[in-house]
Amino acid sequence: MARREILIIPDKRLRLVSEPVKTVDAEVRRLIEEMFEVMYEAPGIGLAAIQVGAPKRIVIMDLAKKDEEKQPQVLINPAILWASEEKAAYEEGCLSIPEYYEEVERPARVKVRYLDRDGKEQEIDASGLHATCVQHEIDHLNGVLFIDHLSKLKRDRVIKKFTKAAKRADD
Ligand code: NI
Repeated sequence: MARREILIIPDKRLRLVSEPVKTVDAEVRRLIEEMFEVMYEAPGIGLAAIQVGAPKRIVIMDLAKKDEEKQPQVLINPAILWASEEKAAYEEGCLSIPEYYEEVERPARVKVRYLDRDGKEQEIDASGLHATCVQHEIDHLNGVLFIDHLSKLKRDRVIKKFTKAAKRADD
């Protein structure tokens, strides 16, 4: 089977609201494996299922540095239970908006409930880059991109650039 491809803006599918996973079955686990392949190949530190065209509420992450052992994380049907008042700013990027980086301010800490790849309910307290990454990926499940957190001017400029590039590729 061909490797799944990463959707790039302005692909409309990136704006879909993804559906909850009903049962964590073999098909879901297969999708998760394919997502890890794509993410590690890219390479990236986070990926939502919709970025490979599957509108399911699944997020994967691996924040390990190059020389560290892999730390794969799978969050199925993740929900933010709590977010801190305190904010933190990180430079974000997205595999669906290649080679574009901008600083985004988000809650510095979040508590998230999700199902793991065995379908067991789990909770995590995330802070630092982890908190930013979790929020960025959960946004994808709601059709939200990190550029939506920027000024309209900046966002319009990026979308225009990628729309032009997509048109050129079509010609
Ligand atoms: Ni992203």
